[in-house]
Amino acid sequence: MERTFLAIKPDGVQRKLVGEIIRRFETKGFTLVALKFMNVSRELAQAHYDVHRERPFFASLIDFITSGPVVAMVWEGDGVIASARKLIGATNPLNSEPGTIRGDFGVNTGRNIIHGSDAPETAKNEIALWFKEEELVNWAPEI
Ligand code: CMP
Repeated sequence: MERTFLAIKPDGVQRKLVGEIIRRFETKGFTLVALKFMNVSRELAQAHYDVHRERPFFASLIDFITSGPVVAMVWEGDGVIASARKLIGATNPLNSEPGTIRGDFGVNTGRNIIHGSDAPETAKNEIALWFKEEELVNWAPEI
């Protein structure tokens, strides 16, 4: 079964959007596999965003993601990686459709509420970076 990594960023937590965001993935039909509420070290932030290391916004991205607690999660389901990206919406919230998380709640690329893995390889790497194997809960919903 496919899995993806999602993180509600400090702005999503500050704005009390945690319940609303989790509800969207639950009601869509995906299964929660792991969840933790945590402060992010600069080391973890830099490893997570390593692909953006040379970008001009890298320093501000690291400052932001380490500025307050985040909700790190793993979700499971058929096609969850692409589907989660659709539910999240475009990176720049000004381009994301109404009905998506960023389209409904955001206006700023640097404060875009939630991160979601963009491909299977990235999902695998991000899950391994943020979670230990024993933190992933293997269960199957009965309905
Ligand atoms: P995310 O999906 O977490 O992946 C990389 C993040 O970099 C992205 O969301 C944005 O929050 C951030 N980002 C991308 N482009 C810019 C930009 N031009 N200015 C500031 N932040 C950016």
